Amino acid sequence: MMQITRSDIKLVRELNQKFFGNNLGDQKEHLILNRLKKLYRGQSTFKNLSDMLDAVARGEYVQEFINAFTTNKTSFFREVIHFDDLRSRVFPEHFSHSTDIRIYSSASSTGEEPYSIAMTFLHYQTAHSKSINASIYATDIDTDVLETAKAGIYNHIETDSPFPVWIQPQHYFQRRIISDYQHPLIRANETIKKITNFKQHNLLDHESAFGSIRFDVIFCRNVLIYFDAQNQEKVLRKLFNTLNIGGTLYTGHSETPITLFPYIEKIGPSIFKKISEIEPRSTPCTVF
Ligand SMILES: C[S@@+](CC[C@H](N)C(=O)[O-])C[C@H]1O[C@@H](n2cnc3c(N)ncnc32)[C@H](O)[C@@H]1O
Repeated sequence: MMQITRSDIKLVRELNQKFFGNNLGDQKEHLILNRLKKLYRGQSTFKNLSDMLDAVARGEYVQEFINAFTTNKTSFFREVIHFDDLRSRVFPEHFSHSTDIRIYSSASSTGEEPYSIAMTFLHYQTAHSKSINASIYATDIDTDVLETAKAGIYNHIETDSPFPVWIQPQHYFQRRIISDYQHPLIRANETIKKITNFKQHNLLDHESAFGSIRFDVIFCRNVLIYFDAQNQEKVLRKLFNTLNIGGTLYTGHSETPITLFPYIEKIGPSIFKKISEIEPRSTPCTVF
């Protein structure tokens, strides 16, 4: 049986904050216990939990620790309004003057978000028979979810998160019936894989994930909520600096970048268009 002390819980909170800005606050004790159980079960090397946490604090098993504490909930076409905006506003505007678009999914989890972007682009490209290209960049800090994303195999239950009617999933996924599973698995085909690149990146790093590359669209959805106000500001500013003027930022529905307001125009729910760079000495951004 796993013994856990107050000081273990305190250390877990500190390590979450330190390694990836995960703000567990004073609550979430139940979540901490569940995640710790899962992590400890996978480690046969340690006599007890405190030994394991001390090892993490010394810099060992850090990735395993991070993977255990991230929250990876996602789905295909989550907030479908963002994908409708991409195809009805962003693509027509952008491709009226350019043939290439760069899109960044900054907390891509298991890949459903960047693959939904890829499908939206490919649908648009086919519908308009245009000679246009998209590069989709996707990052996450969690190496387990990145493996799933790269493999592109999903136990997708259509009734739980249906694809929009304008998407024909058979163009982008193969269905595989596996007898052990109740539902068919779907596997991303090369058409969507080849325009989607996955890379590990901590959004709190000082450097951008892709150096000096600038994006036309950034998805930063349902990740800011895990950071405290200071880290929200840091992450948002870093991402915003890599967005081209005229580019679009999508956030989660409870993540409103209010003090970016002088530099953005609100287009729709959690949809913002960049109208200027941030002035060097401006007030800090906060999210609520
Ligand atoms: C709830 S999921 C959101 C996935 C997707 N954006 C969506 O809205 O469906 C949050 C993701 O953020 C990632 N994440 C958390 N902290 C991070 C950090 N500091 N740097 C990069 N990714 C992080 C987690 O690993 C997780 O996969």
